[in-house]
Amino acid sequence: MLDCGGGSGSFAVPLAEAGAQVTVVDVSVDALATLRRRADEAGVAERVQPVQADVESLADAVPAGSFDLVLAHGILEAVDQVAPAFEAIAATVRSGGLLSVLVSNPVAGVLARALAGDVAAALRELRGLDADFSRPGPPAVQALCRSAGLLIEKVHGIGVFAELVPGSALDAPGALEALADLEAETSAREPFCDIASRVHILARRP
Ligand SMILES: C[S@@+](CC[C@H](N)C(=O)[O-])C[C@H]1O[C@@H](n2cnc3c(N)ncnc32)[C@H](O)[C@@H]1O
Repeated sequence: MLDCGGGSGSFAVPLAEAGAQVTVVDVSVDALATLRRRADEAGVAERVQPVQADVESLADAVPAGSFDLVLAHGILEAVDQVAPAFEAIAATVRSGGLLSVLVSNPVAGVLARALAGDVAAALRELRGLDADFSRPGPPAVQALCRSAGLLIEKVHGIGVFAELVPGSALDAPGALEALADLEAETSAREPFCDIASRVHILARRP
């Protein structure tokens, strides 16, 4: 599998421990050094291959159409040009393989500011959504998946309520467990999943 912008290995190392052979592409030398150390400590160095490269020139770094599973978690927010970077990432998924995208949801920022009482900031944030095309929200990512020929299999929200509930409310007995249940029951249910702070999209190349 391939982890694009895999950084210091928060996904790659546990997946290698579970038996996967993971190629991690990241532009940061420091992140890759941490990845090597963590993979060593976990005893999975031989199953983790760090590659220093920019995902925008991924075709020069890894073979196209050759990975069963490709992760693009938290990377689309970091690249300069979203559409070409996405195309390069999607091109690495083999036929029948899966692309897993984790993307932050700009809508959640508007909601969080309004609920915190800063209505002016919420309005600025809302207007920014329409003006800033460099921030790829979940609907834009789903459109990119479709135009890359991928079929969307699952969409679910991560952190629907977690960042909206005041921390003090979680001190009450049973509140943390109730929040976990609330998250589990709303993560794939509209309209709740549309306001989650991050959205996970799973798409398959037919
Ligand atoms: C927010 S972190 C996400 C790390 C990891 N995927 C996760 O979800 O925990 C973004 C990572 O992308 C890397 N990155 C940013 N721009 C990149 C680019 N153009 N090409 C490759 N990696 C990039 C950063 O070095 C960083 O490690």
